[in-house]
Amino acid sequence: MASKIHIIVKIVAACVIPMTVFSKRYLPNWESLDTRPLPPWYDEVKIGIYIHWGVFSVPSTYCGEWFWYEWQTGQCKECVEFMNKNYKPDFTYADFASRFTGEFFDPNQWADIFKAAGIGYTAFVAKHHEGFCNWPSKYSFNWNAVDIGPKRDLLGEFSAAIRSRTNITFGVYHSLYEWFNPHYLDDVNNNYTTQHFIKKKVLPEMYELINKYKPEYLFSDGDWMVDDFYWNATEFIAWLYNDSPVQDTVVTNDRWGKNIRCKHGGVFTCHDKYNPGHLIKRKWENAMTIDKQWAGFRRNAPLSDYLAIEELLAVLIETVSCGGNILINIGITHDGLIVPIFEERLRQMGAWLDVNGESIYAARPWSNQNDTLTTGVWYTSKKQESGLSVYAIIQNWPTGQTLTFGAPITTSKTTVSLLGYPNKFNWVPASPSGGIVIEMPYIPISRMPCQWAWVFKFQNLAN
Ligand SMILES: *[C@@H]1O[C@H](CO)[C@@H](O)[C@H](O)[C@H]1NC(C)=O
Ligand SMILES: *[C@@H]1O[C@H](CO)[C@@H](O)[C@H](O)[C@H]1NC(C)=O
Ligand SMILES: *[C@@H]1O[C@H](CO)[C@@H](O)[C@H](O)[C@H]1NC(C)=O
Ligand SMILES: *[C@@H]1O[C@H](CO)[C@@H](O)[C@H](O)[C@H]1NC(C)=O
Repeated sequence: MASKIHIIVKIVAACVIPMTVFSKRYLPNWESLDTRPLPPWYDEVKIGIYIHWGVFSVPSTYCGEWFWYEWQTGQCKECVEFMNKNYKPDFTYADFASRFTGEFFDPNQWADIFKAAGIGYTAFVAKHHEGFCNWPSKYSFNWNAVDIGPKRDLLGEFSAAIRSRTNITFGVYHSLYEWFNPHYLDDVNNNYTTQHFIKKKVLPEMYELINKYKPEYLFSDGDWMVDDFYWNATEFIAWLYNDSPVQDTVVTNDRWGKNIRCKHGGVFTCHDKYNPGHLIKRKWENAMTIDKQWAGFRRNAPLSDYLAIEELLAVLIETVSCGGNILINIGITHDGLIVPIFEERLRQMGAWLDVNGESIYAARPWSNQNDTLTTGVWYTSKKQESGLSVYAIIQNWPTGQTLTFGAPITTSKTTVSLLGYPNKFNWVPASPSGGIVIEMPYIPISRMPCQWAWVFKFQNLAN
């Protein structure tokens, strides 16, 4: 027995030690940074929650999280009218901060909703373009949630709840630029030949954010005004990958300069709602919103501005099928609530994933992304002990007695099942060259495994 234990210990040591000994150091250039393998957790979990909360949650209306900029520049006429009608002429955007109260903020309740939704990671807005920090940053003067407004470390409380109540990976959104920061405007006036804003604000703040809260996802944004050199992007990411407390597990994106998006960095987020509709080689993310217009909560958004569950699932399915992750945004009210419509969408998604998660979590793109014959069918696949499983996700329940797919090539051993339904289905090949015709049994509505979208599982296909 003793010698066996000894061998096991040796094997474990042999597996662990080389990883640290040979762990690579990345250089502060894109060629080197681009070689870093994606930490595996990110592609397994597929679904993240994007959370917009800040001073913009107080006006909470036209132009959502862009209210300040759109009002100040006069680009949003409704914003200007709203201010003229409802506030005294000397009212400033900073005056909204004391009304950012957060009195109903219950991070445990949020964590429980996200867990029920089947979410795998978060991108909590640590700081948006308005510059307001949802943590007590030393570099924010008093423009943060502890000195004014809620008087709470919103980021700290949220991360503690996520980490203690769920297995969800904690991560943040961070905007590099701040519309009206005087240091930033100085650098703009100097045509970005100076870096006062970077030295006094952006870099110290980002190091503080990572060292203190250890987020394992860093969604960078607000980069697009200028190239990466101004943001010191490569130096910062090299530190993140080499020396930060999250060096082995952290994932970041590509929004690190107007010349960098969709070209370098971590996962490609390109532009908002990026969804190429076909397979791309690089791991990518669709940062989208349940409110079709804006990410910040809008009190006056009509029901028709919210995605229906069918629409949300359609984006999720297409995204995962084409190799992407989906980052689903909700806006929070000034008093700290996830309103029932967002909660309902999230819980509906969780209910669907309870039945069909096998086709989403840790799934890989298949040889075909959509079907060759039937529209609206998206495929995923997964290698299991029993061989490759292929999942065809349909969004319309068939009205006839058969259902035809063009892409699968059957063998004599092929089996067809429906996730959440006990019996196997009968089938015949659609043609000598491929395709499959499934005989649809009569399934009473009380025995339907789920609503909104259904997943057929094929095993022992030839492709
Ligand atoms: C985390 O995941 C593990 C393994 O799936 C599970 O047993 C555990 O209950 C989860 N913990 C929480 C807090 O959800
Ligand atoms: C600003 O910098 C850019 C890039 O270095 C340069 O092309 C441009 O001519 C500069 N503009 C002014 C007004 O100096
Ligand atoms: C930031 O970038 C500038 C210009 O590229 C460089 O001179 C400086 O050393 C960098 N600073 C840090 C802290 O990496
Ligand atoms: C599958 O996707 C491709 C590429 O987007 C498209 O051209 C084709 O029409 C789709 N096929 C069906 C059956 O919808």
